[in-house]
Amino acid sequence: MSRPAFARIHLGHLRHNYRLLKQRAGKAAIMAVIKADAYGHGLHLVAPALLGEGCRCFAVTDADEGTQLRRIIGETSDIVLLSGIFDTADAQQAEELVFTPVITRMHQLSLLSAAGFSGGVWLKVDTGMNRLGAKNITVLNAACTARGIKVTGVMSHLACADEPLHTMNIEQAARFLESAAKLPDGIPRSLLNSAGLIALPDCTFDVVRPGIALYGAEPVRNQPLGLQPVMQFGGQIMQLRDVPRGANLSYGATFTAPRDMRIATLSTGYADGLPRQLSNHGAAAVLSQTTTGDTAILDIVGRVCMDYCLLDASQVDVKVGTEVEFWGTHIPATRVAEQVGTIAYELFTGVGKRVRRESIE
Ligand SMILES: Cc1ncc(COP(=O)(O)O)c(C=O)c1O
Repeated sequence: MSRPAFARIHLGHLRHNYRLLKQRAGKAAIMAVIKADAYGHGLHLVAPALLGEGCRCFAVTDADEGTQLRRIIGETSDIVLLSGIFDTADAQQAEELVFTPVITRMHQLSLLSAAGFSGGVWLKVDTGMNRLGAKNITVLNAACTARGIKVTGVMSHLACADEPLHTMNIEQAARFLESAAKLPDGIPRSLLNSAGLIALPDCTFDVVRPGIALYGAEPVRNQPLGLQPVMQFGGQIMQLRDVPRGANLSYGATFTAPRDMRIATLSTGYADGLPRQLSNHGAAAVLSQTTTGDTAILDIVGRVCMDYCLLDASQVDVKVGTEVEFWGTHIPATRVAEQVGTIAYELFTGVGKRVRRESIE
């Protein structure tokens, strides 16, 4: 039996979130962003569920991720490579597996031409984030025409959409429209990620590209969309011990028991994705209810180790085998992320490979 650290993937919640985003998108199509193993949720679980909801356009990072996805979904849908292609092998794979790369540089078009690429590409324009994207897409568009490569669409990415009132949002939208207007009529346009759907609801255009919202983390702190958490990340109590007042716990003896205590040892540590910054700081929700029907919350005591952490179980009736949640249904991932100075994206994608992804309905 493998160690009982788990990431339960609630497919019913994923479907709920997809439907909600579809409503928000209006007439625009959804390009579901499922890169990085569906933000750590498991591509093999997430992609078929979204396909079942009618999603026919998926975005991953590169040709490797695209290849994995093609194996899962077959030829049903469009697979967009957000980071484009890097070399000749990628270009050949794009042709063989019918990927739609996002193009930001002329060199990528040369690679595609050399591979006899017969598919389409998205052009990406930089409107102010200064990360990826061409400054002048008319040149790229002309090069596509010259090489007989179809332009499937034009996209840009927002830098500050999670702050809806940030001036960059409207500035980027204006620059995007200005660039897109220089292209021939009818080329599909895409600007918004999850938070963009809140920040710029009038800019859904033809395609929207939600990622984090699919997984149920609210993209804008004080404007919840009503999303449901998809991942429940947790573990099991593997040992219980009574320690006397004054006992030191875990590495570095950073916690000294202020009274006699009952300590639960959990089968989850930082190699599973539980941030070490939660040492003496975080909490876990017990997944069996108390007699009053409440959910008991236990403090993490001592340092989080690679494979374990310790919880103060002095006040609750738990057993070896009792399951706890670190984030998910009872403790929002966004709250844990704030506690450790990061974002839910990093928590989700940090869940270790060795953690079992189990789907539930
Ligand atoms: C180009 C692009 N579009 C869309 C997304 C999805 O963003 P979010 O997860 O914030 O919705 C990403 C994610 O990083 C991205 O890089």
